[in-house]
Amino acid sequence: MKPIQVGLLGIGTVGSGTFNVLKRNQQEIKRRAGRGIAITMVADLDQARARAVVGPDVQVVGDARAIIANPDIDVVIELIGGYGIARQLVLEAIAAGKHVVTANKALLAVHGSEIFAAAQAKGVMVAFEAAVAGGIPIIKALREGLTANRIQWIAGIINGTTNFILSEMRDKGLDFAVVLKEAQGLGYAEADPTFDIEGVDAAHKATLMSSLAFGIPVQFDKAYIEGITKLGAQDIKYAEKLGYRIKLLGITKRRDADAANGTAAGIELRVHPSLIPAKRLIANVEGAMNAVMVNGDAVGTTLYYGKGAGSEPTASAVIADLVDIARLHGADAAQRVPHLAFQPHTFDQAMNDTPILPMSDVVTSYYLRLNVADEAGVLANVTRILADAGISIDAVLQREADEVGADGGAESQPAGGLGVAQTDLILLTHDTMEGTMNAAIAKMQALPTVLAPIVRIRKEELA
Ligand code: HSE
Repeated sequence: MKPIQVGLLGIGTVGSGTFNVLKRNQQEIKRRAGRGIAITMVADLDQARARAVVGPDVQVVGDARAIIANPDIDVVIELIGGYGIARQLVLEAIAAGKHVVTANKALLAVHGSEIFAAAQAKGVMVAFEAAVAGGIPIIKALREGLTANRIQWIAGIINGTTNFILSEMRDKGLDFAVVLKEAQGLGYAEADPTFDIEGVDAAHKATLMSSLAFGIPVQFDKAYIEGITKLGAQDIKYAEKLGYRIKLLGITKRRDADAANGTAAGIELRVHPSLIPAKRLIANVEGAMNAVMVNGDAVGTTLYYGKGAGSEPTASAVIADLVDIARLHGADAAQRVPHLAFQPHTFDQAMNDTPILPMSDVVTSYYLRLNVADEAGVLANVTRILADAGISIDAVLQREADEVGADGGAESQPAGGLGVAQTDLILLTHDTMEGTMNAAIAKMQALPTVLAPIVRIRKEELA
């Protein structure tokens, strides 16, 4: 059978990895796919760079539309990134009847509904294994491996840059800004690192996994997003003392309706720093590695671990998509795995309409750090506010002098200018609704003995 013809848009880190792995493993890949897979055209603004990667046998062009217009091309790989020209080119490729492979999580999280609908109407595939957690085959796992399950929740470390930063801050006691520079130097961070450190990149990925898990439209605009820029080194240390690690988690969770307490069904979709028990496997995912936990009713809790970025790990996912397309090219569209795991014609309106819950309705537990005056009755006032709100305390830690080391935590001696002895009061709570917690925090903050803004970090047991 004639090799499937592929055109590549953008040959940077992932594009060159894709070209090289495809070349290196071509015999094995061909035996698996049942036919050859040939990148025959590459478009890049930097044609010299492209030529240096692909050699003389591949056509190099500066205009991506020359690939889309070529009737011999069966598949277009989009590795340009972003929502702008990439969206336009993907839609044009679909309109031209090409299958599309993309690593572009931002594009699909924001414009996925439009793109998948266009592909469905045209009878082509849009494959995106590389868009979530790089080399980890998590899309395959969610769409196919776990297809028997009613998925309950997903929680993942799905941004390598922030995991690298948190690991370095914890291990070496380094400041956030120093480690960010290191991460950029190592090529982990997105071109605009705010996408990484503010949680946006993780939210793109969590949005896609939420749709795959629950059969709902992609709704990035409804995701709650909080990054790691405000995390203090002392909270990482206090968490450690209490048996927890702090990780930036992407979480999506199904909440069933509960007539007893009057709560409606909904889906949680959130990215924020979370305390997780140090004894969980996922708590030990260090550096730029990614890991995703998926809980299904039949399978229980599963864990997927690997490199979430980088040239060849991401190429591994891109090529897996090419193999899927090579096997199914020309097959009836009904035989293909649906883009978002559920057959679109079976999309259940009730499920489609299940709301993404506002953060105030999310139920979770909390780590609170209060910098307080070290005097009688302070703890009693704080715990009274929590008790009045029906919030149950799980653990309390009051920092002793030097307990978290010289660089972290408040002074326990009278601080310059304030004239009062201060201490850090750390509380872990049981589950409560975020709206209830917000109201309690506002009341605690108003106490004259609470001396600084209260730090609140959510806690997930991942049991
Ligand atoms: N900037 C991303 C990360 C790359 O740090 O994980 C992969 O999406």
